[in-house]
Amino acid sequence: MTVPVLTFFNNKGGVGKTSLVYHVAWMLSEMRKRVVVVDLDPQTNLTTAFLDENRLAEIWLHDCKEKPNTIYRAVRPLTRVGDLLNPKTESINHNLWLIPGDVALSEFEEPLAECWIKTMGSGDELYRSFRIVTAFWQVAQKVAEFQNADLIIADIGPNLGALNRSVLVASDYIIIPLAADIYSLQGLTNLGPTLTRWKQDWKKRVENWQNPSFDIPNGNMRPIGYICQQHAVRNNKPVQAYDKWLNKIPDEYRNSILRSKDQPTHLKPDKDPLCLATIKHYRSLVPMAQEQRKPIFHLTTADGAIGSHYNAVQAAYADFEKLTKKILKKIQFS
Ligand SMILES: Nc1ncnc2c1ncn2[C@@H]1O[C@H](COP(=O)(O)OP(=O)(O)OP(=O)(O)O)[C@@H](O)[C@H]1O
Ligand SMILES: [Mg+2]
Repeated sequence: MTVPVLTFFNNKGGVGKTSLVYHVAWMLSEMRKRVVVVDLDPQTNLTTAFLDENRLAEIWLHDCKEKPNTIYRAVRPLTRVGDLLNPKTESINHNLWLIPGDVALSEFEEPLAECWIKTMGSGDELYRSFRIVTAFWQVAQKVAEFQNADLIIADIGPNLGALNRSVLVASDYIIIPLAADIYSLQGLTNLGPTLTRWKQDWKKRVENWQNPSFDIPNGNMRPIGYICQQHAVRNNKPVQAYDKWLNKIPDEYRNSILRSKDQPTHLKPDKDPLCLATIKHYRSLVPMAQEQRKPIFHLTTADGAIGSHYNAVQAAYADFEKLTKKILKKIQFS
């Protein structure tokens, strides 16, 4: 039994991927789901959201070869003559664990690109190539098994490189955060075909390794919906322009991501079952929560969330609870 992997992805930057991973993981843990989050973006924004500077210094400045404390350090031996190591994780609460990120992770990009090609080869080279291409998945699975986790959530950066490809082909479920603007819409048109191609490429690779020596991901890569992010719209567009792009999302998602050949639905996102949520612009609550290193929906009056801010915190709790329940339903837990 392997633990399912959920990845929030859009190759467009700044659409709220990391923020969603952080808040949804927290909410899941409150709902008593056991979650392992893994920071697979060399920008390490997820890690810095969870951990304060002192803890980050303890982790990043103490590189012990036998006891890796970041995702990169756990996979690094593969680039030499070793095998994967079990990483030390950060316990965030009783139900939530983080595998810390690492700026050095980008060094793994090259072996990943090289081994992706070799997984279509033959003979002895298949073992090492598949070991490298599935390294993140193997490490996350080990941690999830140890913690008896229900779900793994991966945070990745905004690009279509080898690193993200290896995470996405190992994902069971994909959610696409979007802004209601031309950039996001245009982004969908190249994201969809890329995801489809990667899925096919992975299938060929799985077929090519007839007697695998270890478990490998099955390449489900199921898109389970999109999330509209109000904060991510560029240049504070007037409401009319926002609505114009927003209303194009449902059919563009069906065309580009689901590769649907059906007639346009002309659905609006608020009526679309594939729209998992529209996330509000949380304005001053965002820096407040970042400073306290807690989710927006956990801010208290003592943190400065007073008056209308406090109402917004409670509304955020309700919104994230609803979104998280929808996600659980889509991935058939609950
Ligand atoms: N709902 C929101 N309201 C206001 N600001 C938000 C909201 N969600 C995210 N942000 C802010 O927007 C910025 C980008 O968000 P985030 O880092 O989550 O995006 P990302 O897609 O992970 O970016 P990248 O592509 O660089 O990894 C951050 O400064 C974050 O604090
Ligand atoms: Mg991010």
